[in-house]
Amino acid sequence: MKRIGVLTSGGDAPGMNAAIRAVVRTGINKGWEVIGIQHGYSGLVNNDVTLMGARDVSGIIQQGGTILGSSRCPEFETEQGRRKALRTLEEQAIEALVVIGGNGSQTGAHALYQMGFPVVGVASTIDNDLCGSEITIGVDTALDVALQAIDQLKVTASSHHRAFIVEVMGRDCGYLALVTGITGGAEYIVIPEFETDAEDVVNAIRTAYERGKAHALIVVAEGAKYNARGLEHYLSEHHEALGFDLRITTLGYVQRGGSPGAFDRLLATRLGAAATGYIAEGKFGVLAGLNKGQITPTPLSEVVTGKKPLDLDLLRLSETLNL
Ligand code: F6P
Repeated sequence: MKRIGVLTSGGDAPGMNAAIRAVVRTGINKGWEVIGIQHGYSGLVNNDVTLMGARDVSGIIQQGGTILGSSRCPEFETEQGRRKALRTLEEQAIEALVVIGGNGSQTGAHALYQMGFPVVGVASTIDNDLCGSEITIGVDTALDVALQAIDQLKVTASSHHRAFIVEVMGRDCGYLALVTGITGGAEYIVIPEFETDAEDVVNAIRTAYERGKAHALIVVAEGAKYNARGLEHYLSEHHEALGFDLRITTLGYVQRGGSPGAFDRLLATRLGAAATGYIAEGKFGVLAGLNKGQITPTPLSEVVTGKKPLDLDLLRLSETLNL
């Protein structure tokens, strides 16, 4: 092995830079050249690459986002786009590729692997919906960002005796909403994995009001049937029953832009190092992930076809805490 490539793809996640740094530096340590591919798969399709030295990744471990840039690249989803990507890899004499990203990115990685190219994935998405890693790069920091916002919202909510609907990201997965809700002390949590009766939400807010609480907090996942907008629509038609006045806040992309905390920096560093380790061993078509405290490889074929379960006991736990 002489030359490997690395790219970040899909939604950026705090810790991606730490993973790039680990890939570059552990690769250089092995005597390889490391090529950074710009803007995810679009850089592969359009031959937009750059040689990376140890100094190019200095001072980035604490930065959110990705210095390589990221994208969602529709062209790469076509057979023709993937052939262009393979041509770039050949022209650049890249012998193996590290793909740092979530579900869509690892689906792309798996496709390249099936076309015969040696690929290793690194589990990175704030959504925590990726099979093959119990927790992925960016989740911990995204949760902290959401919690900080919620702690502040509760201050103003209490001052005005208001109920707040707070919508968090997660695509179709309720993990971020569930954990944010529990750790933020929400009165109600709405996630796609569990069907919500909007009347129950009305009752939860009313109950909080009657118990003399200073505010009520409802955390909703963006992918739920009742996301912030849907729930606001329903609740505003029942505002007299609520007791509290209602406001909504959508946290959205704020959650992706945080500076990675210690957990994400360490996870990203371990996963990036594991990825070059797998390449050195000739272990391809796998995702580097964290499982039971260990970094383990999971075949990409399992990663892209599996569905990660959500622990609904946490939802029941949150209900018992709403006194
Ligand atoms: O997958 C990460 C994520 O932030 C999701 O939570 C969200 O639904 C999506 O990306 C937004 O995607 P985009 O950046 O393409 O708007």
